[in-house]
Amino acid sequence: MIIKSLSLENYRNYDHLDIDFKDKTNILYGDNAQGKTNILESIYMCSHGKSHRNSKDKEIIKIGKNECHIKLDILKKDIPYRIDIHLRKSKTKGIAINRMPLKKISELFGIANFILFSPEDLNIIKNGPSERRKFLNIELCMLNSLYVNSLINYNKVLNQRNTLLKELRFNDSKELYDTLDIWDEQLIKFGKDIIREREKFIVQLKPIIESIHKNISGGKENLNIEYEKNTSVESFEKDIKQSRKKDIQYKMTLKGPHRDDIGFYINGLDIRKYGSQGQQRSGALSLKLSEIELIKKLTNDNPVLLLDDVMSELDSKRQNNLLESINDIQTIITCTGIDDLINKRLKIDNIYKIVQGTAKIVV
Ligand SMILES: Nc1ncnc2c1ncn2[C@@H]1O[C@H](COP(=O)(O)OP(=O)(O)OP(=O)(O)O)[C@@H](O)[C@H]1O
Ligand SMILES: [Mg+2]
Repeated sequence: MIIKSLSLENYRNYDHLDIDFKDKTNILYGDNAQGKTNILESIYMCSHGKSHRNSKDKEIIKIGKNECHIKLDILKKDIPYRIDIHLRKSKTKGIAINRMPLKKISELFGIANFILFSPEDLNIIKNGPSERRKFLNIELCMLNSLYVNSLINYNKVLNQRNTLLKELRFNDSKELYDTLDIWDEQLIKFGKDIIREREKFIVQLKPIIESIHKNISGGKENLNIEYEKNTSVESFEKDIKQSRKKDIQYKMTLKGPHRDDIGFYINGLDIRKYGSQGQQRSGALSLKLSEIELIKKLTNDNPVLLLDDVMSELDSKRQNNLLESINDIQTIITCTGIDDLINKRLKIDNIYKIVQGTAKIVV
């Protein structure tokens, strides 16, 4: 897959931007706060339907304007697609593919596969389990439309069940209590789908990350990932029943895939807790690189890699690992200086300088 061009209208600090991309390495460089990440964010919006920075749509619209537009032209297996996103201050966003409006954001998932790598991603192993669940959800939503559906429904039911648990503390009428059965049945159904898909995903990712990490560590480290389930397909029903009393006491659902985690072990040691900072960051890099490989394998196409200022966060050896694994895919790299990249003898196809919401071609 290749991004051909991007056009922005009233997007963050851009009034208007038209930018073309080449098939391999594209560089966006400039001082801080000029609009480099904004460009990557707008591209990411076209695959994930929302900002990677967790911004609300109305924060993305240029201050003082009421609406904004993103237009992205891509080539996917040589077929052109145009993705249009229209954000409005007071209404829901409009998304169209080849000028056909979508009914739901989830219809966008899987059309374009963009992988964004930002400095915060290097903390995924160090951070709490919710970051790792977010990773699982984002990846699986991109690859699997059934998962999207199960996840949306699971979260809805979980919220309803938690609201009911709170009410039961003050009103334990039989009528209210019995409605728990209805929510439990739904929670179990969608929860089992989620667990099954996560199991399959980790099984596929395991050998890829193991081999990538072996390479990154010069053969010294054996990285093993484990799906650490809070419950299993077989026992979810029993666990929910058994935990009901406690759930009412704590006013929340204590069992289910919303409490899952992924374990990272190097030579048997849990690096979430005991890893050095270097091991945690290398593990995170291995995870990103394996994401690229898995998408290649499952979609039979190359994803586009968006690297937001990560080169400066990595030491020279890890920079080389990253550059080696991206030489055959389209990459858009943001940075504040280009000397380092030029020194790496990276084949650069295109350089833009970003200054206060404008992009000027340099090479
Ligand atoms: N809704 C908005 N309207 C106008 N300007 C905005 C809006 N949202 C953000 N900005 C501006 O966008 C700029 C930040 O852009 P961006 O995050 O892309 O910078 P950057 O070039 O990536 O910088 P850094 O190198 O520090 O990461 C800031 O000047 C900010 O004030
Ligand atoms: Mg930035």
